Amino acid sequence: DGVTVVDHPLVRHKLTLMREKDRSTKSFRQLLNEIGMLLCYEVTRDLPMEMTEIETPLTKSMQPIIAGKKMVFAPILRAGVGFLDGMLELVPAARVAHIGLYRDPNTLQAVEYYFKAPSDIAERMVVVMDPMLATANSAVAAIDRLKERGAKDLRFVCLLAAPEGIERFRGAHPDVRIWTAAIDEKLNEHGYIVPGLGDAGDRMFG
Ligand code: PRP
Repeated sequence: DGVTVVDHPLVRHKLTLMREKDRSTKSFRQLLNEIGMLLCYEVTRDLPMEMTEIETPLTKSMQPIIAGKKMVFAPILRAGVGFLDGMLELVPAARVAHIGLYRDPNTLQAVEYYFKAPSDIAERMVVVMDPMLATANSAVAAIDRLKERGAKDLRFVCLLAAPEGIERFRGAHPDVRIWTAAIDEKLNEHGYIVPGLGDAGDRMFG
């Protein structure tokens, strides 16, 4: 409940390629963008629509468009940026909020170093994105911060989630639904998702 695993064959296939340790930076980045696009398709599946009058070459006609203000994409830096181009490919008019967080390797707590969001974020749907939901400290901190700024309609998209992370996230923010390409087995003692794919930020940016 509240968690959608996007198990489309294209997503599953691409994710397997991404897990391979010898996959190049270039290929990893490209696959993450492609999966971002496919996840974007799913996370927007139930957006509210409204009717608008248009003119076709033949006649006036009432036709559906997405209701409300343009949505906000909120990547958690750095790895979340890997999703952004793919998502913007499908929703080119989206606004973007940047949330800089790094995970302290000893405490695993999320430390904020940057935050910049559109001022009217309270009136928009916000899609927070980060490839990895491990302890969920980063995702929970990002959503705390967006809620502080008034965001009410939030969704979270990731590539891989640990069961521990999902539990913590749903406990902290039960109103925020999650879309993920896969739920892996567990977290190891260093807070890495196993089998996972390693450190997404490092694999993408070095
Ligand atoms: C990694 C990953 C997530 C976070 C997940 O980021 O990209 O943002 O950790 O872990 P959590 O669920 O336990 O918080 P990292 O701190 O390595 O920063 P980076 O994306 O800049 O590499």
